[in-house]
Amino acid sequence: MVKKIGRNDPCFCGSGKKYKQCCINKQRKTDKDPKKLYSRVYNINLKNKKDIEGIRKTGLLVIATLNEAENFIKAGVTTDYLDKIIHDFTIKNNAKPATLGYRGFPKSSCISVNEVVCHGVPGDRVIEDGDIVNIDITSILNGYYADASKTYFVGTPKKDAEKIVKIAQHAIMIGKNTVKPGNKVGDIGWAIQNYAEKNGCSVVRNFVGHGTGFDFHEEPQIPNFGRKKTGIELVEGMVFTIEPMINLGKKEIKILSDGWTAVTKDGFLSAQFEQTIVVTKDGCEALTPYDLT
Ligand code: MF3
Ligand code: CO
Ligand code: CO
Repeated sequence: MVKKIGRNDPCFCGSGKKYKQCCINKQRKTDKDPKKLYSRVYNINLKNKKDIEGIRKTGLLVIATLNEAENFIKAGVTTDYLDKIIHDFTIKNNAKPATLGYRGFPKSSCISVNEVVCHGVPGDRVIEDGDIVNIDITSILNGYYADASKTYFVGTPKKDAEKIVKIAQHAIMIGKNTVKPGNKVGDIGWAIQNYAEKNGCSVVRNFVGHGTGFDFHEEPQIPNFGRKKTGIELVEGMVFTIEPMINLGKKEIKILSDGWTAVTKDGFLSAQFEQTIVVTKDGCEALTPYDLT
């Protein structure tokens, strides 16, 4: 058994001072500073005002890049054509595409059509009328990362396409609405899962949201499913993505032979929206803002 150190015992750090006049205060100070506590206990890097402004700047560029790509989405173009537009726009704005070369990923965006859940590798696939197309862009500007995606209709959407896109868009909004200091990571996932399943859809389990800002993928993971009042407590200055992948059919996926492209196992449609957000004093704010209503 380890004897608990007393206030008047010599401090364990070897200073020769009494514990109460030495490390007792340091430890308490560290524990009261959420930045140090979250870094030590969870490996989460909380962001300060300057960091948040940097990430916001990248986030606005990501949204501008999505808007640029949107102008060129139409039946007959390939996903690679859209990726080139995204690449050139990013470089022109003095930023770098974070996906290019990331763990061997070969392109500057992920473009996921219809049954593709996420990580679609831009290539020869020709976009057709009635398709739904998710474009996911992560850029690095002045060292700061921001990550966002949207699912677009091509031409006239069919009923099932309209349904899954509407539910995915509503799901991220419902997730965002749970974000405030004091709530927990599990509250976000619970809200998303509850909403999607109540509407007869399913939530993909294989991929999750994530901390971001200083690096592409940071702690913590933000699952789009889960239980209320579980997981890490949200605190001001946390920056992470919410990115639910919602399937019209079953939640199971498989990965194609390119090692990246995730598709629904049953071949039904999947849709996704993603934003990078920061936890504020009494809620949250999108750093990759776009309308979700
Ligand atoms: N942008 C994706 C995300 O939301 C990650 C893509 S990684 C890649 O986290 F390698 F597939 F590009
Ligand atoms: Co992401
Ligand atoms: Co993304």
